[in-house]
Order: sequence, then C-alpha cells, then structure tokens
Amino acid sequence: MPLQSGLAGQRVLVTAASQGIGFAAARAFLEEGARVVINGSNSQRLEKAIAQLRPLGSVSGIVADLSKKPDLDRLVQEAEQALGGVETLVYVTGSPAPGTFMEQSFESWQAAAALLTVSPAYLAQRVAQGMVAAQVPGRLVFSASFAIREPIPNIATSNVCRIALAGLVRTLARELGPKGIRVNGVLPGYIATDRVRHVFEDAGRRRGVSPEAAQATLVQEIPLGRIGTPEELARVFVFLGSEMSSYVTGALLPVDGGILRSVG
Ligand SMILES: NC(=O)c1ccc[n+]([C@@H]2O[C@H](COP(=O)([O-])OP(=O)(O)OC[C@H]3O[C@@H](n4cnc5c(N)ncnc54)[C@H](OP(=O)(O)O)[C@@H]3O)[C@@H](O)[C@H]2O)c1
Repeated sequence: MPLQSGLAGQRVLVTAASQGIGFAAARAFLEEGARVVINGSNSQRLEKAIAQLRPLGSVSGIVADLSKKPDLDRLVQEAEQALGGVETLVYVTGSPAPGTFMEQSFESWQAAAALLTVSPAYLAQRVAQGMVAAQVPGRLVFSASFAIREPIPNIATSNVCRIALAGLVRTLARELGPKGIRVNGVLPGYIATDRVRHVFEDAGRRRGVSPEAAQATLVQEIPLGRIGTPEELARVFVFLGSEMSSYVTGALLPVDGGILRSVG
C-alpha cells in the first residue's frame, strides 16, 4: 500500500514558524495540501514567512508570544476561527538565551520555564479542549530536543526546562488517547537553522575557536557525519501529524543523525 498522508484539507496550527524548524514544518504540511496557520512573535518576520509560503496553498498567520497567557488564549481562539477548528498542532517554540547553570538568575529560570514548560502544556490543553468538543481525531506533535536525553553544555535553562515535554507527551498520550487524540514528541539533533548557527558561535567563543571549528568538532560526534536539514525534520512532523502514524502515541522520536548514545 503506498504511503499517503491524507493531509489534503486538514487543519494544522504550527507555532514558532516564521523561520527555522517551524517554517519547514509549515511548508511540508502545505505541500501535502493541508490548510495551515503559522505563528511567531514578530509581525514583520511572520509576514515575510507568509509571503514565502502563500504560493504553496492556504496559509495565514497569528502574531502571539508563546510565553504569555493572553497571547496563547488569543492564538487558539483565532486559529480555530481561521481554520474552523484545529486537527493537528505542531508545537515548536523559541529558545532561551544560552549560558551555563552558574550564569543563570531567578528571572532567567522563570522566563525559560514560561517558554519551554508552561507554554506547551497550556497550549496543548486549550487546543485539546477544542478537539474534544469537535470530536475530531486530533494529533499533537511537540518539538523538543535531544538535550532532554543528554544535556548539551551551555544551554542550562533549556536542558532543565524542556525535559517537561517528555512528561507532557506521556501524560497526555494516556489521558487523551481514549478521546481519539494522539500525542507525540520529536527530539531534533543539530538542525541547520539560525538558532544552531548561534549555538556554534557561542561554543566557539567559549573555546576560543571559530564557529566553523566548533561545528566541525561537534559533527565528529554525529554518526551520520553532518547536521540535519529542517526539511528532514519536517518529514517526521508530517508523519506524526497525519494518520500515517495512526497507531503511534506517547512516542519521543529522535531525529538526530544518531548523536544520542543512551539506550532507552
Ligand atoms: N536548530 C536546532 O538544531 C535545534 C535542535 C533542538 C532543538 N531546537 C529548538 O527548536 C526550536 C526552534 O529552533 P530553530 O532552530 O527553528 O530556531 P530559529 O531558527 O531561531 O526560529 C525560532 C522561531 O521561533 C519563533 N519564536 C521565538 N520566540 C517566540 C515566542 N516567544 N513566541 C512565538 N514565536 C517565537 C521565531 O519567530 P519570532 O522571533 O518572530 O517570534 C522563529 O520563527 C527552539 O526551541 C530550539 O531551541 C533547535
């Protein structure tokens, strides 16, 4: 049987999608014929992304800061209005500032927790409420990081706060499965975006080497010998965000070129 995504006409919300991983996810769903709403916190970047995506199909944008409750409430309300309900949520988010554990402040922990822990849980609840009310077979896909299995140096707040996504996926999979909603997580490794370029710049600065040298050292640790592309990651979002993965829920799937060494 040929693989068919069945996404034509499906209603998809992708957060943090004006560039990078979220943008590639939105593009991949549009290429499958889905109707897509994208989100970002900066209106100019969001408009630019919509202009790039519009030739591919039905896409609109909602400016909202994912770390703020009023913005999350409005995002869900406006996305449901624009699409007539949400069938797939692809949750991507922004990144807290890099830094070691000892460089953090109370405020930096709070900001990271708001963006990486509270935001996905609250948004998932609001979107799931709509799915349950509409009795649609919903799909929630959370983009996390391979760092939730093996912490990465110099992104302490992310290492600590993002691990909550694993608990969220497993908790929601159990609670929402009986309601026909599947919940899965993706653990990206190093993916070629602006964000990862900043990570290599920061790593280079700390070690007194160029960003290119920092990247080359890191790539030696990746069995496939290179960092990934946003498009390679987006194909996994399409799989988990469609009925191609109809018997998959509660999974945390690494897409990392093999960099994770841990078993389980
Ligand atoms: N690239 C990687 O290798 C990698 C690996 C593992 C995990 N991750 C994580 O994956 C996520 C996406 O990374 P990326 O590489 O795609 O980053 P990116 O290229 O910097 O893109 C980040 C996107 O998030 C949006 N955003 C940031 N803060 C937001 C907020 N508060 N509310 C709404 N949208 C917001 C940005 O748009 P605006 O600035 O306009 O809001 C932008 O569209 C990040 O959490 C990152 O830490 C990345």
